[in-house]
Amino acid sequence: MSPSAPALPLAPALPGWTHLSSGKVRDVYTPAPGSAWSGQDVLLVVASDRISAYDHVLDTPIPDKGKVLTALSAWWFDQLDDVVANHLVSLEVPVQVAGRAMVCRRLRMYPVECVARGYLTGSGLVEYRQNGTVCGQALPEGLTEASRLPEPLFTPAAKAELGEHDENITYERVVEMVGAPAAQALREVTLALYARAAGIAAERGIILADTKFELGVGADGSLVLGDEVLTPDSSRFWPADQWSPGRVAPSFDKQYVRDWLTSPAARWDRDGDQPPPALPEDVVARTRARYLEAYERLTGSPLDL
Ligand SMILES: Nc1ncnc2c1ncn2[C@@H]1O[C@H](COP(=O)(O)OP(=O)(O)OP(=O)(O)O)[C@@H](O)[C@H]1O
Ligand SMILES: [Mg+2]
Repeated sequence: MSPSAPALPLAPALPGWTHLSSGKVRDVYTPAPGSAWSGQDVLLVVASDRISAYDHVLDTPIPDKGKVLTALSAWWFDQLDDVVANHLVSLEVPVQVAGRAMVCRRLRMYPVECVARGYLTGSGLVEYRQNGTVCGQALPEGLTEASRLPEPLFTPAAKAELGEHDENITYERVVEMVGAPAAQALREVTLALYARAAGIAAERGIILADTKFELGVGADGSLVLGDEVLTPDSSRFWPADQWSPGRVAPSFDKQYVRDWLTSPAARWDRDGDQPPPALPEDVVARTRARYLEAYERLTGSPLDL
């Protein structure tokens, strides 16, 4: 962990569960001794309203964001369960975290962020401009911001410590990390999930530019989809009618937060050692609305809060 890693707020105490760990957004719990789930190989994964940007967890939460992430992931798990099994066991959770938590199968997670990209942007575009490649894979010349790739690519990244950047890695590196059979399975499942999800999003007028999955191995040795899936935090969703290669597409995510943090109004140096300032109310409200809109456009119904 880097010395500038942000301090996280305390995870709430929950009856029947013992806090195990916290990431940037989620608090993870194990069954408490003697509780209903005790002795079962499950975790409670609670999505907080924390938001991260530029590798910082911000002090200002986005109300209901954790509920959007949880409900949207649950919806996608249902859409994708014939592609690969997932970790969702139950949405019956302590009332304190109702709507924002899932009881999940506990997995041994692969230390690889399984990214699929159908379009060129972000760190993929940076590497392409430097080397003409993404994760070491050569691409044709002449691509630009938001270009559609000739075919979707598996562009893995290594999970970084809290406060650090994830690092794009080559497929060969994935083979070294997890072995050839697992690497091949991760690539195949990632691309199959992307193809299915991109098709569903397209029917709703949304481009799934890229997305990240986390997979692990269940107690029975099988490959299982874990973490969150296809949320605005893990994916770039672009309104199809606003996409145009050569310019940055407006995505259903933290764009308002990033734009404000890098604007003069924030008086914040992204490359300095100070944490980002608190977000103004209108940035919070617009970001919240964007998350809720993503949920509604994808699932076809407003989120029941
Ligand atoms: N079924 C599962 N079994 C075990 N671990 C899981 C499971 N699903 C998700 N996780 C892990 O739980 C954590 C979720 O927390 P969160 O998303 O906030 O973390 P993060 O900041 O993205 O990542 P990091 O773990 O690097 O802090 C991640 O480390 C994720 O890999
Ligand atoms: Mg995460």
